Amino acid sequence: MHSREDCLQADQRDPLAPFRRQFDLPEGVIYLDGNSLGVLPATAQARSAEAIAREWGQGLVRSWNDAGWFELPTRLGDKLAPLIGAAPGETVVTDTTSLNLFKALAAALRIQQREQPKRRVIVSERDNFPTDLYMAEGMIEFLQQGYQLRLIDEDLPLEQALDDDAAVLMLSHVNYRTGHLYDMADVTRKARERGALTIWDLAHSAGAVPVALNEAGADFAVGCTYKYLNGGPGSPAFIWVARRHQDQFWQPLSGWWGHARPFEMETGYQPAQGIRRYLCGTQPIVSLALVECGLDIARQADMAALRQKSLALTDLFIQLVNERCGEHPLTLITPLEHARRGSHVSFRHPQGYAVMQALIARGVIGDYREPEVLRFGLTPLYLGYADVWDAVDILKQILDSASWDQPRFHRRGAVT
Ligand SMILES: Cc1ncc(COP(=O)(O)O)c(C=O)c1O
Repeated sequence: MHSREDCLQADQRDPLAPFRRQFDLPEGVIYLDGNSLGVLPATAQARSAEAIAREWGQGLVRSWNDAGWFELPTRLGDKLAPLIGAAPGETVVTDTTSLNLFKALAAALRIQQREQPKRRVIVSERDNFPTDLYMAEGMIEFLQQGYQLRLIDEDLPLEQALDDDAAVLMLSHVNYRTGHLYDMADVTRKARERGALTIWDLAHSAGAVPVALNEAGADFAVGCTYKYLNGGPGSPAFIWVARRHQDQFWQPLSGWWGHARPFEMETGYQPAQGIRRYLCGTQPIVSLALVECGLDIARQADMAALRQKSLALTDLFIQLVNERCGEHPLTLITPLEHARRGSHVSFRHPQGYAVMQALIARGVIGDYREPEVLRFGLTPLYLGYADVWDAVDILKQILDSASWDQPRFHRRGAVT
């Protein structure tokens, strides 16, 4: 069994431990929800003051040029690129993940309409994050061309779903609920061999696990910056388009920021060459500016070291829960196999909601997802091994004493 002393020693040896100083973390909190909303980079307050007081307050409209506001989506996209295995000029930071999915889906379906017009199926996963499925439904409804959404699950394996009708395969690289990680290279190859284009949702991967989009031969990807990239609440998302596809079609949200000559104010739309055509309209500059603070930190970290620590933290968490909370009805739903695990760990518990509320009341912030799932994000840049030990210790106290079983921890109207 790992003792707390072992964990403290592991923290002392940890080459990533100094990164914690680059974040402002509240006292008395063990934050296990960086996979939902990342923490505050220490530079963010100064950067927001600069963006507001100097760039907006003093520079006013001149800042679109003088402070580089207009170029921010592409400049940040290039900063993000190494973290997702992209080349410069392939990524923009803009809009939301949901909106970017719409653009990617539209472009992928247009390419297929030209090259393989009989393919009318979007393949995804029943357990995908709901917005991905909703956006696909919206696209199908909008197109009115007989497209269908086909969902893989226990009854329908991926290989079977990728038949001659499959136009696009749209998957989350890391599953938001279970933390299951796909082998992107293998799945992308299978899709390509069967004639489907791939769209990867990297919401739980960017900054958390190694991603190699170009090496895998992927076609499109989207993701958010407010989780492991610590961009701030609701910070703009990103879209990546393989160079070979960029100039094939416009995406349908053809706003003026994606125009070839936005300031000519032409009557007709002419898409910009390259990734800029995936922009739509005026961007939330203050929010966008803050994304850079988190990216600057993530870029300093060695991804192999980050992955190693992420796996060590998730291993430790799973082992400690098994060893110390074994008599309680907790069921691990995260894969044990390293190659199949992202950077969070989830357990089911019949009173998962109340247990999570009790944990949060004790300063261990994770989150709850239906059904009955306790979800714990293990973020190597600001969590240590002793944090994991302490979190499991508090979980054990809560379960042993059944202190979760109080009206304030139950959902209103829920029967205990
Ligand atoms: C896999 C995945 N996709 C998308 C989103 C959210 O998309 P949006 O930023 O558009 O709300 C989430 C949010 O947790 C997610 O987990």
